[in-house]
Amino acid sequence: MTDLFSKFDDIIEMRRALLASGVEDPFSLVMERVLSPTVAVCNGRETILVGTYNYMGMTFDPDVIAAGKEALDLYGSGTTGSRVLNGTYSGHREVEQALREFYAMDHAMVFSTGYQANLGIISTIAGKGDYIVLDIDSHASIWDGCKLGDAEVVPFKHNDIEAMEKRLKRIPEDAGKLVILEGVYSMMGDIAPLKEMIAIAKANGAMVLVDEAHSMGFIGPNGRGVAEDQGVLDQVDFVIGTFSKSVGTVGGFCVSNHPKFEVMRLVCRPYVFTASLPPSVVATAATSIRKLMHGHNKRQHLWENSRTLHAGIKALGFKLGTQTPQSAIIAVIMPDLERGAAMWEALLHEGLYVNLARPPATPANMTLLRCSLCAEHTADQVERIIGIFERAGKAAGII
Ligand SMILES: Cc1ncc(COP(=O)(O)O)c(C=O)c1O
Repeated sequence: MTDLFSKFDDIIEMRRALLASGVEDPFSLVMERVLSPTVAVCNGRETILVGTYNYMGMTFDPDVIAAGKEALDLYGSGTTGSRVLNGTYSGHREVEQALREFYAMDHAMVFSTGYQANLGIISTIAGKGDYIVLDIDSHASIWDGCKLGDAEVVPFKHNDIEAMEKRLKRIPEDAGKLVILEGVYSMMGDIAPLKEMIAIAKANGAMVLVDEAHSMGFIGPNGRGVAEDQGVLDQVDFVIGTFSKSVGTVGGFCVSNHPKFEVMRLVCRPYVFTASLPPSVVATAATSIRKLMHGHNKRQHLWENSRTLHAGIKALGFKLGTQTPQSAIIAVIMPDLERGAAMWEALLHEGLYVNLARPPATPANMTLLRCSLCAEHTADQVERIIGIFERAGKAAGII
């Protein structure tokens, strides 16, 4: 018998060697208590969180929490059914209405996660004989959506406008084409040149899907994302997003102005064949989305945090994923996994949590310490984060 697990031997060995070097397991940290959007208790000590996707700090918003509690009391803990059977409650309709208003678009469809939104929309709209042209650094859920469908998949070099155009021009003119881009690429925290790319996609007869998971709530005058910021949201056919980041709960969605969009509710398998979100979750999401519409001050403060942290860590001599701050994510490039894990642990011992990211999630085999800022981080916390990076970087021999 061939052990079907033998394909995982390399990763099992990598983990064993890492733990044998004496570092704490960076992939099984427990948040013992969560005190606020920016502070939790880990290993019994208060820890500043700069590795969550809680960009707008909505998880402890009193209105959001009250809406969730009320929905639990009124509707119970779960729907126990699909959206197309018994799983559509008034809260699901309300959150879709909140999304239509947030994006000023005609249609909104809510999925149980952002992962499923990409899986469902991509695999359903791009079928046999169609072509998907996508950035090579696309999120796993985008790649998995491509795998689940039958379209021809054509990747191009990250953020390379010319490479994208070349690929598009090679596709038969009359074939269905979908270009998939992200507003913010979450590993390095860089943004896409959406304006130029969308113009080329349209000139070549392609529809465009933009995943704005890491920009919703924060980037753009109304927090609609990078496409709004670059003035091209009206050119985007499908925006994919998630409730698990700025919205502060769980769930995913697609918004669109396509006149036939509602047919998706009947044909999109990751929407039909799974249970809908619990009433408390959609109630928290709807309340949070409506508050994010008025989050101008928070957006401004988050940009200040991003600029301060980027400049501070750069001045210490660390190598960063972007030359300038482009989003709420600041990626600090580590020389290798061993030193990255040692630095991660040194930060944790100093009371700071960041994300350790490694291949295959990262581009070019990089090990990254990813800082993602929150609008609720105070200026004092940001200064403390920089101080901790300095001490830990020196202790780990990286600066
Ligand atoms: C770009 C992108 N799209 C989609 C998702 C999936 O979101 P969710 O957590 O709602 O499944 C993520 C999650 O990290 C993401 O980074």
